[in-house]
Amino acid sequence: PRIAVLFGGRSAEHEVSVMSAENVMRAIDPVRYEAVPIYIDRQGAWRLSSFDGGRLARPEAGARLTLVPGGGGRLVALPDAGAAYDLPSVDLMFPVLHGQNGEDGSLQGVARAARLPLVGCDILGSATTLDKDVAKRLLREAGLPVARWVAIRRDAVPAFDGLARHLGLPLFVKPASQGSSVGVSKVSTEAEFQAALAEGFKYDRKLLAEEFVGGREIECAVLEDADGVLSVSRPGEIVPAARHGFYSYDAKYIDAGGAELKVPADLPADLERTLRDTAGAAFRATGCDGWTRVDFFVAADGRFLVNELNTIPGCTDISMYPLAMAASGVPMRDVVDRLVRQALA
Ligand code: DAL
Ligand code: MG
Repeated sequence: PRIAVLFGGRSAEHEVSVMSAENVMRAIDPVRYEAVPIYIDRQGAWRLSSFDGGRLARPEAGARLTLVPGGGGRLVALPDAGAAYDLPSVDLMFPVLHGQNGEDGSLQGVARAARLPLVGCDILGSATTLDKDVAKRLLREAGLPVARWVAIRRDAVPAFDGLARHLGLPLFVKPASQGSSVGVSKVSTEAEFQAALAEGFKYDRKLLAEEFVGGREIECAVLEDADGVLSVSRPGEIVPAARHGFYSYDAKYIDAGGAELKVPADLPADLERTLRDTAGAAFRATGCDGWTRVDFFVAADGRFLVNELNTIPGCTDISMYPLAMAASGVPMRDVVDRLVRQALA
């Protein structure tokens, strides 16, 4: 099968996607599959990339590609001048895009419209989980523990005093639909609240004010087989360096050594079992397919909350999904193979 690997994209996590996609490319078995990397630039144009020396090319000029709706994987190149031409058709789409316009159901809808099998979450799970407000409602409705929160829109910003009373201080303000901690602020004062709103609204029309939850950051990787059976990895722990305060974008990707990943996390066996079961339940409650990483906060007394789900989990060198799966006996090459089989099933 020929796999279109889409990466880059029109989101604040463009660079993270490139790093993830390079690792996914490395993990695609070249004997069994042919990978066709497609770069999506920051404006949203698709162009044929290439993978050389472990790096993905990011062409900014030349023929743009489009998927023909209903065409079952036909790609057409649209040059700036001259006639459009057909490219070899692809058998499935593997989006390695994080955040808006890639992880939110939009691209998943394009695959559907083109009748192209898709790796990972379909439209529903992508859309529900990328919006943290909607995701938390579904999790809560399924009886899973989540942090208290209030959704904020520009035309209905609650008074800081009331929020502080309801959620406690400090609280977090975050865009509803962003990953990698982009646009997230920790807030203790009215002035910080105003600054946090300005920052958050740069990224989204809806924000969440969320109670601060102390505790360890524990994550589980979930993988669905072609027959619908879920495998949940052993939990891993993210130990941020003290200087960062929380696991911010910089701690994740800019500051090498900003955090340490520990797999498996040191947890009592019964709590590990509960977290793994909860990860599977969260996957189902939000309508996910294929793969997803489920993130928790775990307090010292063993109480825990589901923080969020990532339907296209980071696959960079410092990302938890590949590490947790490998530690559970599923190396990245097998993850990719199982995802492709699940998509084609
Ligand atoms: N959104 C990033 C890539 C992650 O959660 O892994
Ligand atoms: Mg995330």
